[in-house]
Amino acid sequence: MKNLLAGFVAATLTFGVQAEAVDSHLLQQGEAVAIASDCQACHTAPGSKSAFSGGYGIASPMGVIYSTNITPAAAGIGRYSEAEFSAAVRHGVRADGANLYPAMPYTSYSKMTDADLHALYYYFMHGVKPVDEANQQTDLPFPFNLRFSMGMWNVMFADSTVYQNDASQSAEWNRGNYLVNGLAHCNTCHTPRGLLMQEKSDQPLAGSPLGSWYAPNITSDKVSGIGGWSDDELVQYLKTGRAEGKNQAAGGMAEAVEHSLQYLPESDLRAIAVYLKSTKPIRTEGETQPAFNYGAPMDVENSVRGRNPNNANQSLTNGAALFSGNCASCHQPDGSGSANQAYPSLFHNTATGMRNPNNLIATILFGVQRDTADHQVLMPGFSSPSYVGQLTDQQVADISNFVLAHYGNPDVKVQAGDVAWVRKGGHPPLLAQAQPWILPGGIAALVIVLLVAGFWLRRRRVR
Ligand code: HEC
Ligand code: HEC
Ligand code: HEC
Repeated sequence: MKNLLAGFVAATLTFGVQAEAVDSHLLQQGEAVAIASDCQACHTAPGSKSAFSGGYGIASPMGVIYSTNITPAAAGIGRYSEAEFSAAVRHGVRADGANLYPAMPYTSYSKMTDADLHALYYYFMHGVKPVDEANQQTDLPFPFNLRFSMGMWNVMFADSTVYQNDASQSAEWNRGNYLVNGLAHCNTCHTPRGLLMQEKSDQPLAGSPLGSWYAPNITSDKVSGIGGWSDDELVQYLKTGRAEGKNQAAGGMAEAVEHSLQYLPESDLRAIAVYLKSTKPIRTEGETQPAFNYGAPMDVENSVRGRNPNNANQSLTNGAALFSGNCASCHQPDGSGSANQAYPSLFHNTATGMRNPNNLIATILFGVQRDTADHQVLMPGFSSPSYVGQLTDQQVADISNFVLAHYGNPDVKVQAGDVAWVRKGGHPPLLAQAQPWILPGGIAALVIVLLVAGFWLRRRRVR
């Protein structure tokens, strides 16, 4: 990047000083848009040294969708004009006219202003190193392999209008709205989806399952959402991935913090907090207190220190013993975490207080990895491959139930079957479950249509 800028400055100097100022400014603006939009998280395969060269397999309920090479090379988007780039980024239409899958969040990027899009294009053409690496083909099963069907989906569900400032709100609020529902596409993870995988427009940011994880309700509701978080806590969470007494970011949220949110200027993070606090509060039915309110310290050693005969309340003893052996070394025998909370408290933690236990289960299975400027966070996962012991579905369920009963929401119970689903990547939505029936169903429908048509033709001939 630096070298490139230097070369750029040298090149532009020969054309005059005026051009230089404009270009480097545009380049910086474009890079900032790319960071806020987190293009990197999906378009750079984990561990790959060539930024934006694609090949990251995104596990969707319909199958794996590979991100593509978006470097300015022939194998990438080198031949894209700005108009073609705009069509891909904001409307999900590739240069060859084919529709993209909404795994590429064009449904949020459609809000991107013309100025930001222009800078982004400039950055990709002049600030990104070209990498000639061929794309990995995405092969979804029928009918999801029919890309044109996404065109119909777009007509039904995609909002293609650029962000419009709301004059009745502050500039800060507008910036927050633009980031949350546009560039930073928080909505794509946190808004629940309907039968056809569209975002439910009447429940914005009300929480949604996300593969193995659960993206919580982040509306302003004081019980179900983030209404009880201070602005400072929200800003700190987005910047570092942790807010004491609230939550630590794992899964997709850890990626968003690591690749994107930690680099946003403080003013942007504040704008996001201000906007979230102003959203329509949505209460999840049956919830009576915030997830971060649950639990209290309870020393597990009291219950496992040989005082209980093996036959006493077997399930509790199992959970307690497993917790003592696998978790207490870091989270402390009473669940309160380490003094500096680098190993966080398990009570007053939304991962254990939420009614959906997925984040607790997924944390035990897959751990927490997150690198930010001020710290590297690592909790090992207890599924394979792991350098710590591997736990069975039943053991993970036992630990979860122990943790929930004492440190979290005691009304929530986990069964081995729940753990098996999280291990597999989450319950498939109805549309994916229906997939095996869509082809036979379609053929059956076609046969019926032909039979009926044949019947009418025969009758007409007979007459
Ligand atoms: C959440 C993941 C995700 C993010 C974030 C994301 N993309 Fe994508 N993008 C994809 C996937 C997946 C595809 C391929 C989709 C397909 O094959 O239908 C894609 C395709 C594209 C294409 C089409 C290229 C081609 O010819 O195949 C362009 C251009 C693109 N993305 C640009 C961007 C830019 C610019 C950003 C940031 C502003 C961005 N993407 C952010 C997942 C993402
Ligand atoms: C790739 C999906 C994804 C994106 C994008 C995303 N989130 Fe999240 N978010 C999650 C998941 C999953 C969790 C749960 C993390 C955990 O508990 O370890 C989460 C947790 C949170 C929490 C904690 C809520 C609680 O009650 O514990 C807040 C606040 C939050 N996200 C805000 C945001 C904001 C604001 C944005 C956009 C700037 C955003 N998220 C973008 C997936 C995402
Ligand atoms: C080697 C130390 C270590 C061990 C062992 C360990 N953890 Fe953790 N745990 C961590 C760290 C580090 C974090 C993340 C802190 C952060 O994100 O700032 C964490 C986070 C968590 C979270 C919060 C995740 C979220 O999404 O908010 C839960 C819940 C949790 N651990 C439960 C457990 C359970 C249950 C066990 C035993 C099966 C366990 N941990 C074992 C270190 C550990």
